[in-house]
Amino acid sequence: MKIKYGIMGTARIIDRFVGAVRASEMGEVRALASRSLEKARERADGLGINTAYGSYEELVKDPDIDVIYVPTINHAHKENAMLALENGKHVLVEKPMTLSEKDTRELFDFARKKNLFIMEAQKSLFLPVTNEVKRILENDEIGKVHLFEYSISIPEVGFRWFYDKKSGGGALYGSGNYILAHAMNLTEEKLTSATGHATLSDEGVDLQCAFVLKSQGGVLIEGKITTMVQSDSILRIFGEKGKIEIHDFWKAREATVEIYGEPVRTISHPVEFEMVYEVDHVNECLVKGLHESPVMKSHYSIESAKITDDLWTEFLKAS
Ligand SMILES: NC(=O)c1ccc[n+]([C@@H]2O[C@H](COP(=O)([O-])OP(=O)(O)OC[C@H]3O[C@@H](n4cnc5c(N)ncnc54)[C@H](OP(=O)(O)O)[C@@H]3O)[C@@H](O)[C@H]2O)c1
Repeated sequence: MKIKYGIMGTARIIDRFVGAVRASEMGEVRALASRSLEKARERADGLGINTAYGSYEELVKDPDIDVIYVPTINHAHKENAMLALENGKHVLVEKPMTLSEKDTRELFDFARKKNLFIMEAQKSLFLPVTNEVKRILENDEIGKVHLFEYSISIPEVGFRWFYDKKSGGGALYGSGNYILAHAMNLTEEKLTSATGHATLSDEGVDLQCAFVLKSQGGVLIEGKITTMVQSDSILRIFGEKGKIEIHDFWKAREATVEIYGEPVRTISHPVEFEMVYEVDHVNECLVKGLHESPVMKSHYSIESAKITDDLWTEFLKAS
C-alpha cells in the first residue's frame, strides 16, 4: 500500500521532505503545486516529481493524493491547511501550525468534523535519539530531573519573510515550538507560567528571545533562541544523578549521557533524511485510520500556540 503525498509550495525544506518520503516505507510523492506553474514545473522536474500544478486549489482536487504537506510561509499555514481539509485531504502542516491558539483549535476542530487526519510537523518527536532519551528519563537513569536548558542559534537567517511579523517571521514563531513540543513530549506534563523577553527589530520582529516555563511536576524549562549572535544549539537535561546533552536536538543523530562518576556514553542513530521517522509515523496513522497522532498530540500544538500567544503579550508589554 502507498500513501500518496501532494506538496504545497516550493519551499526550500521540500527537498529534504521529498527525500524522507522516498526513504519511508510507504510514502510516495505524487504532485507539487506552486502559485506559479513555471516555478512548480521547475521544482517538480528538479525533484523528479511527475505532476506539477500552478495553484494549490488544483493540487487539493487531485483524486490521486491522500495527504497534503503544507510547508508554506508561516502565516499561510491555516488557510492552506483548511483548503486541503475542505477538499477531503489529510494534512501534515509545518511548524508553527498556525500563528494563534484560536486558529490551531479551529484546524483540529474542522479536521475532526471532516474525519480527516491532521498533525503539526514536529520531526524531533519521532527521532530514535529522542525516544532513547525519553526511555532513559523514564528509567530514572539520571535521577530526578529538575532542569531543561534549550538553546537554538541561527545567526544567518537566509530568507526575507523571517523579518516580517505578519508573515509569521521571528525567532519564537520560527523555532519556539521546536522547544515547546519537545519539552512536552519528554516531560509528558503540561507546561505552565511562561515568562519571557525578546529583542525586537524596528519592524517588531523578535530577533532573539528567551523564556522560562515550569512543568506541572515542577521541572524548570529554559528556552533561548537567537538570530543575532553565534551561540549554541543544544539541549541540556539535568537530573540529580547526571545529565544528557543533545546538540541540534530538533534533528539530532547523537546525544551524550553522563551519569556522574561514570564514563560518558554516546547514543548514535545516523540517518540521511531525519524527517523519515515522522513520515513513517504519518503513514502508519493513515493506515490505521487515525485522525490524530498519538505522539505529536493535538494538545501539544494547541498548548504551544497558547504559550506563544502569552509570550508575545509579555514581549510587547516589556518593549
Ligand atoms: N521541520 C523542519 O525541519 C523545518 C525546517 C525549515 C522550515 N520549516 C518550516 O517550513 C515552512 C517553509 O519554510 P522555508 O524556509 O522552507 O520557506 P521558503 O523557502 O521561504 O518557502 C515558503 C513557500 O511558501 C509559499 N507561499 C505561500 N504563500 C506565500 C506568500 N504569501 N508569500 C510567500 N510565500 C508563500 C511559497 O511557495 P510558492 O511560491 O511556490 O507557492 C514559498 O516557496 C515554514 O513554515 C518553516 O517553519 C520546517
